[in-house]
Amino acid sequence: MNEVLAAIRERRSVRVFRPDPVEREKVEAILEAARWAPSGKNTQPWRFVVVESAANRAELARLVPQRDMIAHAPLTLAILLDRKAGYDELKDAQGIGACAQNVLLAAHALGLGACWIGRARDREVEALLGAKEGEELMMLIPIGYPAENPAPRDRRPLGELVRRI
Ligand SMILES: Cc1cc2nc3c(=O)[nH]c(=O)nc-3n(C[C@H](O)[C@H](O)[C@H](O)COP(=O)(O)O)c2cc1C
Repeated sequence: MNEVLAAIRERRSVRVFRPDPVEREKVEAILEAARWAPSGKNTQPWRFVVVESAANRAELARLVPQRDMIAHAPLTLAILLDRKAGYDELKDAQGIGACAQNVLLAAHALGLGACWIGRARDREVEALLGAKEGEELMMLIPIGYPAENPAPRDRRPLGELVRRI
């Protein structure tokens, strides 16, 4: 199968991580994939905060419900939407979704695991991240070497999803 299609098919949400650090080149490659996502009018309204120091990871874990996942991941990528860079609430959010999917696929392609945590607009987390005026948290993505190999979750068959007209 084509490599991109295989990565899309084989990626899983990984929620348990080994403590091994993630190489800086891999983190850069993930960020590079993120910034190449499509966005409405090419506004690129995403901003990234890499949470990697032990102190900030612990503080972030304290603020979210799935604290073990965040605490054990060697890094968590926060994606923020810069409202000043965007132009339309729905289209900005769509672009941010594409960006997050690029992150998940890049992590998978590099042998890493990741999980999209839909934690949005959380004032305490935004303060920890140093969010600037107009920046809103859209999601957190803990990333690390997988310590689990989750089975694929069900997907609805295309027959239920597709209409041809
Ligand atoms: C918008 C969005 C929000 C999500 N929020 C969470 C979350 O808060 N916690 C979590 O463990 N997984 C979260 N997930 C991951 C989904 O649970 C997961 O993608 C889905 O169950 C399918 O599993 P798979 O990614 O392994 O195919 C989220 C995914 C998306 C796209």
